[in-house]
Amino acid sequence: MENFKVKDRSLASKGFLQTEWASNHMPVLSQIQKRFSEEKPFGGITLGACLHVTKETAVLVDTLVAGGAKVALCGSNPLSTQDDVAAALSEKDVNVYAWRDQTTEEYYWCVEKVIDHGPIITLDDGADLVGTIHSKRTEALQNVKGGTEETTTGVLRLRAMEKTGALKYAIIAVNDAYTKYLFDNRYGTGQSTIDGILRATNILLAGKNFVVCGYGWCGRGIAMRAKGMGANVIVTEVNPLRALEAAMNGFRVMPTAEAATTGDIFVTITGDINVIRKEHMQKMKNGAILANSGHFNVEIGIKDLEELAVSKRNIRRNLDEYNLADGRKLYLLADGRLVNLAAAEGHPSEVMDMSFANQALCAEYLAKNEKMPPKVYPVPKEIDETVATMKLSAMKIKIDELTDEQKKYLATWEMGTI
Ligand SMILES: NC(=O)c1ccc[n+]([C@@H]2O[C@H](COP(=O)([O-])OP(=O)(O)OC[C@H]3O[C@@H](n4cnc5c(N)ncnc54)[C@H](O)[C@@H]3O)[C@@H](O)[C@H]2O)c1
Repeated sequence: MENFKVKDRSLASKGFLQTEWASNHMPVLSQIQKRFSEEKPFGGITLGACLHVTKETAVLVDTLVAGGAKVALCGSNPLSTQDDVAAALSEKDVNVYAWRDQTTEEYYWCVEKVIDHGPIITLDDGADLVGTIHSKRTEALQNVKGGTEETTTGVLRLRAMEKTGALKYAIIAVNDAYTKYLFDNRYGTGQSTIDGILRATNILLAGKNFVVCGYGWCGRGIAMRAKGMGANVIVTEVNPLRALEAAMNGFRVMPTAEAATTGDIFVTITGDINVIRKEHMQKMKNGAILANSGHFNVEIGIKDLEELAVSKRNIRRNLDEYNLADGRKLYLLADGRLVNLAAAEGHPSEVMDMSFANQALCAEYLAKNEKMPPKVYPVPKEIDETVATMKLSAMKIKIDELTDEQKKYLATWEMGTI
């Protein structure tokens, strides 16, 4: 039995080229890869990863392998795997279990295959690997020293586990590093969500009413980029501070029920469930387009859409038409799964450079340090600052340094106006 499962190994040569292209745009991770290949911080231990299998993830895997790790990898979404990249990884002796378009059963089968390899450190995006280890595969807990988590939804789930005492090993919340969420969530999700919508539909954004549900780090990026393309952006929120910020950034803010009547395109990006549901769909204009970029496919009430529809047609890749009893048609992109990964290629390499530099350095931190008590930890400040410094240097941007006088001034309370 082979220690991998991918769709088509003959795609590997394409996957190698994709990975090379990504690597060329990931200078920070490439530098870390070079250091790891000399220092071998992982010394033969197994890392289990549940991450979107993209060309950028392949560069991360290469980095971990260069550092002496054995890597077992599965996708973190049934619809986000790039099959050519998965094929290329399988050629490199990575234990990869991933292909695009999986059933839920196949998806969790792959997660369990990764657990079969006995990971010492886990790298997760959405906490499905940690969740499976803590529920169905508790025997694996004895091996695990710690883990990392890539996304907001995963961190939320892990904090819930910590609160109830269910969490059994330490996790570093990579998502919460400044060099992650300020860039990946905002500029990465902002650009790639628009990219996914355009690849699925090829519609013109200029002049359209574009509704962004959720004005968090990702929502801010999507709203900003949609505005840049000439759309009239409407924001819906449940948090008064975020709603206020959206209003002062020049967006119209209103309840989802009101936005439902005017929106041409809707994007959910909340990490919440049933944000767009039957009562909203019943009010939508004929031709409205629904997309989700949040981690799970729960933000749009797909069951509601199915119930309202009398028939459904696939119009083109990632674009389904739902025909409603009253004659209106609503369009759902990528089965309501994160549209930037399912209909496009996920975040551009330049932002994943920072996110995955954090992943690599946090995995090294876990490998080198004593096992920590089971809690959710922030990314160590030195790692965050190292990533920012390396990225600036790779971008050939220089900044000022504090003078001694300024250091003294900033540390004192005695000196005021002069
Ligand atoms: N597509 C991607 O590549 C990608 C990348 C990063 C994060 N994510 C995912 O996107 C989601 C959002 O991440 P984030 O970092 O922006 O989170 P965040 O916590 O910064 O923002 C979420 C926002 O949604 C709002 N919200 C919650 N319920 C709502 C509702 N019913 N209606 C309107 N607004 C509501 C919250 O008040 C908050 O402001 C998470 O699921 C995260 O895992 C996806």
